[in-house]
Amino acid sequence: MFALCLVPLGQLAWRALHNNLTANPIEYITHQIGDWTLIFIVITLAVTPARKLLRQPELIRFRRMLGLFAFFYGLLHFSTWIGLDKFFDWADMLADVRKRTFITAGFTGFVLMLPLALTSTAGWIRRLGGKRWLALHRLIYIAAIAGVVHYYWLVKSDIRLPVLYGVLVAVLLLYRMVTSVTRRARQSAATAKPAPASP
Ligand code: HEM
Repeated sequence: MFALCLVPLGQLAWRALHNNLTANPIEYITHQIGDWTLIFIVITLAVTPARKLLRQPELIRFRRMLGLFAFFYGLLHFSTWIGLDKFFDWADMLADVRKRTFITAGFTGFVLMLPLALTSTAGWIRRLGGKRWLALHRLIYIAAIAGVVHYYWLVKSDIRLPVLYGVLVAVLLLYRMVTSVTRRARQSAATAKPAPASP
């Protein structure tokens, strides 16, 4: 699974080695890695529904790694913008943020993934306690929405792909809302006092 997650990076490296990064390599790299950031976010969100619907609880083993790869590709995407696109020109970056609002949405998504990556270890789950850790990790939902908004805002005409990602994220979030509501309803039914026995 780890090797599989590295394939997109390997593909880019292969193309770079063979001078095959199109006429605009920086744009190509930014777009490819941006795509993979969003794909990994969606795959990470799909792990829980997949393990329940397919009755494969062991899939949970991959969730942390997939989430960390989403962050890894997000970091590469962000670094490409800072290093290759803007050449560490902070004034130019600030101007870009002001001029192109989609950058702000992407930045929000990336910043939200940061605490998730930092607290992904078993030690942090222990330190925060399961409930607080789970609450913090719900930030991935907002990061996913920010990623979709970022993509939707940056495309000029063909909105099919950002809309597709938007639908996928919406379905995955809806699934969580429905399962959480039905779980709570079942819990409250189970703890409700039994009706008094009729005489
Ligand atoms: C959750 C975090 C993020 C996700 C999921 C994400 C995703 C994407 C996607 C899917 C694309 C379009 C790829 C394509 O057209 O095939 C893209 C493009 C881009 N992203 Fe991000 N991104 C994120 C964060 C960021 C950040 C933090 C920055 C920089 C501050 C950034 C800068 C850009 C730029 C400059 C482009 C190209 C825009 C253009 O062609 O005009 N992204 N991103």
